[in-house]
Amino acid sequence: MTNAVPPKVQTILITGATGAIGSALATTYAQNGIRLVLHGRRSETLAAVAERCRARGALVDTSGVELTDDTALAEWLTQISRQHLPDIAILNAGQNAHPVGAGYLEPEDDVTSLVDINLRVPIAMAQQLVPGMRARGSGQLVFISSLAGWHGLPGTPTYSATKAGIKAYGEALRGLLAPVGIGVSVIMPGYVTSPMCNAMPGPKPFEMPAHKAASLIQRGIAGNKARISFPFPLNFGTWWLAVLPAAIAQHLIRLLGFGRIERDTK
Ligand SMILES: NC(=O)c1ccc[n+]([C@@H]2O[C@H](COP(=O)([O-])OP(=O)(O)OC[C@H]3O[C@@H](n4cnc5c(N)ncnc54)[C@H](OP(=O)(O)O)[C@@H]3O)[C@@H](O)[C@H]2O)c1
Repeated sequence: MTNAVPPKVQTILITGATGAIGSALATTYAQNGIRLVLHGRRSETLAAVAERCRARGALVDTSGVELTDDTALAEWLTQISRQHLPDIAILNAGQNAHPVGAGYLEPEDDVTSLVDINLRVPIAMAQQLVPGMRARGSGQLVFISSLAGWHGLPGTPTYSATKAGIKAYGEALRGLLAPVGIGVSVIMPGYVTSPMCNAMPGPKPFEMPAHKAASLIQRGIAGNKARISFPFPLNFGTWWLAVLPAAIAQHLIRLLGFGRIERDTK
């Protein structure tokens, strides 16, 4: 008789699991031996994603806790960390907003909620998750930036700022946490078909379906890549915006149509 050790169940936490990329990631990871902790605000959509993942063999827990409520967030993460400390935490929930017209800023409420969910919440989640991961000596944090994080775009000023911010934070944490066994990856997608992407004004070159983006992200996370940016042509083009002299970068942005604000209130 052998005393076979049951295979370890890997726990993966995904916020924004009701969205295009989050739900595609959940489905991509769902299989036997995987426990998914899925977060989303739209309960019916979340239940449907969870059912799809269970049908593929995954164990699934769901939550709709208010991520921007520091106390509720801390209680939730303390509870799940006690039960099943995540092996991978994909901090994917995010929003976008646009200026209402050329020369006008984004609505102030949108700015506040964007900074909250795109930047402050993933940092707060790292604060909560790192102590447990450090004590265990393993874990991986995944932050969702954007190719808009390479250079600010006139059509999405606050979004660009939050995505540049979370990119810098993830890059910094990678070096800080590697010595204690915690991996950190920053994801920089281009245009991925989703309600958020559909609502964006301007050109969307090399737009790709969410399931394709999810496969690229999963592969990159498995290799603990520091940066997972795609698609290649758009990544290469937008990377130049960050390294070229500012005047040339600004000129290119105008030339490529990323400076066009389509709805004008005047
Ligand atoms: N699609 C793109 O082209 C693209 C490109 C680069 C980066 N990204 C990034 O990828 C991530 C996922 O975006 P997506 O394209 O999948 O967009 P999406 O389909 O609109 O999904 C956004 C997700 O974020 C959640 N969310 C938004 N605000 C929230 C809040 N205040 N509290 C809790 N959850 C909140 C939504 O939850 P509910 O549905 O429950 O409201 C939804 O699950 C975002 O961080 C986005 O910035 C997307």
